[in-house]
Order: sequence, then structure tokens, then C-alpha cells
Amino acid sequence: MASQKKQCILVTGGAGFIGTHTVLQLLREYYRVYIIDNLHNSVPEAVERVKVLAGPALSANLHFHVGDLRNKDDLEKVFTQARFDAVIHFAGLKAVGESVEKPFFYYDNNIVGTLNLFELMTKYDCKKMVFSSSATVYGQPKKIPCVEDFQLQAMNPYGRTKLFLEEIARDIQKGDPKWRIVLLRYFNPVGAHESGQIGEDPKGIPNNLMPYIQQVAVGRLPELNVFGNDYPTKDGTAIRDYIHVMDLADGHVAALQKLFNTENIGCIAYNLGTGHGASVLDMVAGFEKASGKKIPIKFCPRRQGDATAVYASTEKAQKELGWKARYGIDEMCRDQWNWASKNPWGYHSQHP
Ligand code: NAD
Ligand code: UFG
Repeated sequence: MASQKKQCILVTGGAGFIGTHTVLQLLREYYRVYIIDNLHNSVPEAVERVKVLAGPALSANLHFHVGDLRNKDDLEKVFTQARFDAVIHFAGLKAVGESVEKPFFYYDNNIVGTLNLFELMTKYDCKKMVFSSSATVYGQPKKIPCVEDFQLQAMNPYGRTKLFLEEIARDIQKGDPKWRIVLLRYFNPVGAHESGQIGEDPKGIPNNLMPYIQQVAVGRLPELNVFGNDYPTKDGTAIRDYIHVMDLADGHVAALQKLFNTENIGCIAYNLGTGHGASVLDMVAGFEKASGKKIPIKFCPRRQGDATAVYASTEKAQKELGWKARYGIDEMCRDQWNWASKNPWGYHSQHP
């Protein structure tokens, strides 16, 4: 029995990739969890699988509401169901290319949705938030590793929504010091839960490297286009800080604990990364090793707007949240392959 019930957390976007993994860890830590998600980029099956992984006792603490943050009535319905001690706010659109084509959609969904959430949180006197920001707010960093007090810059409408929302959060906290807000800047989340039951399931052709490699490995795509092999790096391909989604999930639990324990935390940013850079070819090699499959590659021109190398300084999160990533590339590829091989069509049983 989940006898040591802790606080009640609203998780927006909890049916998505990072959300499902975080909800599972929250349940395991005995939190009560309410999810609101409009299923724009997720399916109810993902939440069902979280329930199975959590087991019958802990999953009794999970409540799932289909609703849209742009609709205040949907939010109101959830806020009248329970008294929330904090909100973890994942809900948002995240595809860079799509944001260039449909800026209004991104500003409306990410900004208006979050403003509604702030409004309802204020109304129901819930003033603690963990917000999903991104390493994208560092733009093309002049120095690496990226440190939290670097000057921020947005490169596209998606990045601007994250940057604006960080600024909005800082202003809201300044206006009412009762607010406690943690901004988590994720680097490149990859991998899956070790069970292989939950993982990333992008709709359409993936934009990001690891889901793309995964789909090549299971035969859904013929080859990987490697964007640029003329970067000034060890093998000519770009460097990123890939982080296992379970490490990220644990980072949210650590952030939440910090939020509850620190009265004057204000509005504060932390990087969630490993602090290690890996090239595109390192990730291809890691996935080939984990899967035993050859990943055919084709070198292509650089993708517009891509930085040469981005990785995190992890000192602040380590010192102040007591959190550090545990997994390396081998575990990220092992777990992502486990998910991919068990679920070649993601949460669908066949070609959706
Ligand atoms: P995801 O798309 O898998 O999950 C986001 C969830 O939010 C989806 O289930 C979607 O249906 C839901 N959602 C979107 N708009 C909504 C709305 N208006 N109302 C209700 N639900 C809504 O994405 P993810 O990878 O889990 O990312 C979670 C958050 O982390 C996002 O805010 C994203 O921008 C941020 N982030 C992700 C990455 C990454 O590479 N995955 C990197 C940095 C930051
Ligand atoms: N890449 C390829 N081929 C592909 C996809 C990607 O070579 O098919 C390369 C990219 O050029 C880049 C690297 O793989 O060098 C990583 O690309 P991703 O698209 O996976 O990740 P990004 O670092 O470009 O961006 C991602 C998210 C952003 C987020 C950022 C930091 O897309 O929204 O991580 O969290 F801001």
C-alpha cells in the first residue's frame, strides 16, 4: 500500500516522452499525481503503461485528465479536483522546424497555455512550479560548457517561447515573492525506461537524432542523414550533451524536493545534462553496439542554425539539487534499443 503519501503534483504534458518517465518516478516516491494532457503528441496507452509499471497500489495515486492548457475551463476542472502542492509543467510543442513554419501555433500553445496555467495556479494559491526549459536558450554558445548565468539567446520561434517563458516566470516571481520556480534547462534527452515499456514515440519522421537512428535500426527508415561532417570537432560531426531520460526524470524529483525545502528560492535555473559532449558518430557507434545493427549513414550539408558543440556545466545542479546524471551513452543506447525492439511502431501495434 502507498501508505506514506506525499504532496500532490499536477503534471502538464504528463503523457509525453519526458512526462511519462517523470510521472513514474514521482509515483515511486509516493507523490500523488494528476496529469493534464491534450494528447496532441501522445497517446493514452503511454499513461496506461506507466500505471502497469508503477503497480496497482501506486497507480491508484495517478489521475489522468485529457485537457488543453489553452482552454481555461479544462484547467479549472483539474484545479477543482485536488489541491496541488506544485506543478511540473512539461506541456508544450517542441519541433524547431515546425515552429518556423507555424509561429502563431507555437506562441499560442506554449505562451498562452502557460499564462493560463499561471493564472489558475494563482487563483488556487499553488505557487510552486518546475518548468521545462531547454539548452536552446543558450543559442549558439560562445563558450562551453554552458553555465546557467550565460547570456541567453533564441534562434527560432520554439526557442523564443522558452526564452520568453523563462522571462515571464522571472517577472511573475519578482511581482509576488511567494512564488518558487525552478527552470530546468534540458540538454538532449534520449533513452527510455529500462523495462522497454515506455519511450519516445514521435509522430511522423523524427527531427531529432536518436529517434531517427532508432527508426533506421528497426527498418522504418533506410539511412541516417548526418548533417555536417566539416565541423571543427574530432570527427567533423557536431557535439551535444545526450542525457538519459531516467536521469532527467530523477532531476525533476530533486528539483521538486528543492522547491519544497527552500523558502527563498525565487526563480532559479539549473542545467540538466551530463557535462560530456558526444558527436553524431559517437551516437551512431553506440547504437550499433547496443543493437547489433548496422546504421547506414549519408553525409549531408550542415543543418541551418545548428551549433558546433553544446554541453552543460553540471556543477550547479550537483551542488544545489544534489543531482548528477548516472548513465552514459552505453546505457542510453541499450535502453532505447530495448524500447525500439519491443515497440518498433512505438505505442501502436503496427504502422499508424
Ligand atoms: P512531448 O511532446 O513528448 O510531451 C509534451 C506533451 O505535452 C505531449 O504529450 C503533448 O500532447 C502535451 N501538450 C502539448 N501542448 C499541450 C497543451 N496546450 N495542453 C495540454 N497538453 C499539451 O515532449 P517531451 O520531449 O516530453 O518534452 C516535454 C517538455 O520538455 C516540452 O516543453 C519541451 O519543449 C521540453 N524540452 C524537450 C526536449 C527534448 O528534446 N525532448 C529538450 C528540451 C526541452
Ligand atoms: N542530426 C543529424 N541527423 C538527423 C538529426 C540530427 O545529423 O537526422 C544531428 C544534428 O545536426 C545535431 C545533432 O544530430 O548536430 C543533434 O540533433 P537533434 O535534432 O537531436 O538535437 P538538437 O541539439 O539540434 O536540438 C534538440 C531539440 C531542441 C532542444 C535541444 C536542447 O530539438 O529543441 O535539443 O535540448 F532545444
